[in-house]
Amino acid sequence: MTPPDYGPRAVILAAGLGTRMKSRLPKVLHPICGRPMLAYVVDAAREATGNPPVIVYSPATGQVCEVFADEADFALQNEPRGTADAVRAGLAALAGETGEVVVMSGDVPLVTAQTVRRIAAARREHGAPMALAAVDGPDATGYGRVMLGSGDEVERIVEEKDASDAEREVTLWNGGLYAFDAAWLRETLPRIEPSPATGELYLTRLVDLAAADGRPAIAVQEPAPGAWEFEFQGVNDREDLTDVEPFIRHERILRPLMLAGVTIQDPLSVFIDASVQIAEDVTLEPNVVLRGATRIGRDTVVRSGSQVLDSEIGERCTIWASVIERSQVGNDVKVGPFAHLRPGCEIGDGAEIGNFAEQKATRFGARSKQHHFSYLGDAEIGADVNIGAGTITANYDGRQKHRTVIGDRAFIGSDTILRAPVTIGEDAVTGAGSVVTRDVPAGMLAVGVPARIRPRRV
Ligand code: UD1
Ligand code: CA
Repeated sequence: MTPPDYGPRAVILAAGLGTRMKSRLPKVLHPICGRPMLAYVVDAAREATGNPPVIVYSPATGQVCEVFADEADFALQNEPRGTADAVRAGLAALAGETGEVVVMSGDVPLVTAQTVRRIAAARREHGAPMALAAVDGPDATGYGRVMLGSGDEVERIVEEKDASDAEREVTLWNGGLYAFDAAWLRETLPRIEPSPATGELYLTRLVDLAAADGRPAIAVQEPAPGAWEFEFQGVNDREDLTDVEPFIRHERILRPLMLAGVTIQDPLSVFIDASVQIAEDVTLEPNVVLRGATRIGRDTVVRSGSQVLDSEIGERCTIWASVIERSQVGNDVKVGPFAHLRPGCEIGDGAEIGNFAEQKATRFGARSKQHHFSYLGDAEIGADVNIGAGTITANYDGRQKHRTVIGDRAFIGSDTILRAPVTIGEDAVTGAGSVVTRDVPAGMLAVGVPARIRPRRV
């Protein structure tokens, strides 16, 4: 009987401390475009192998188990004794079920599934026990240098810390992506001796052992000059993070959006999380930030200086120099300039929320208008309501928040204070400067301080 074919599995190394980040957050969880760095590696691993990867973590990076609980298996490396020891921990979780193992680094986030498949395919073609990505680039600082034997065969990899001056001159460097014959890897890993310089168990020592066995590892070089320099950029400190971020931003987010029909006037100043969805014919002006679970409907224009977080914006809206958080905005709505929708707002179709307007946890009906410097909090506003300049819902009495309800077509005069809880009926009117402390029945007029209620003159 042939053994079952479980397909290749990826082991992702993410147990290192990442001390150069100087952070309490594990390095691989630092966000790039709104997703943890490691998410990009997990995606590439899954796409390339068709299987969930095994993430090697340590007590210091245990948070990764919660973040990727649904997408990966996990293996604990108790102490960070080096990359070879991390792979040993990962293999233990695979329990002999796979013929091919791909090893990736959690801190090399740009590597694509295509590149992973390329390394694995090259190993199989050569019948080699091991293949690795070798990158040629002018600046190999910090990486292991790849010393070739004849052809694509690798003789040795020398870590920067252990390299002589002459070895440091070599420009071919180890990208940290490997494909292995799983059985060979299991057999050979225990033969690795600690580095005399650092005491660490280097995965790269496998290259010497393969060469000594007469079955050398294969170096796979980049498909076109310069192609891999960016792709294999490792992230070791926060400056590296800002090196890879623009690349992910452009290649994975902005470019696909532009190809899908979104106009982005100045891609360098627009920041969009990977999770944001934007429809065709949306225009984004310079200096726009869109975060989290934000969705933007067709033909909407997001003008300069706007930030939208976890919010849904409908079609044909204009959002201008405003901040919108965890809110829902209908179609044909105008927001801003200088409006702030705080969490929990629902804005009806055709509404206008203008200059220096603030809302919080407010339902704002269709075609209603709040044009000039005013605050609506914990309020329910009907349709076709006019909120006059300077209107304030006094929703907080010092201890508790109270609701304000305003009926359809009500007209709230300039500088009205609505002392909540209070209800303004449909078609009711408040006079300029009134302080409304009691409910105003439908169609009535409230004027004065405190407001007296009388019938409206028609
Ligand atoms: C490693 C390679 C180097 C290569 C570079 C590419 C070794 C010895 N060196 O160096 O040749 O050029 O990657 O980016 O492999 N990790 C663990 N457990 C450990 C140690 C590390 O899980 O005990 C993880 C780290 O979290 C990281 C990855 O392995 O994700 C690589 O480790 P790191 O210490 O960053 O290795 P480099 O010095 O970058
Ligand atoms: Ca690294």
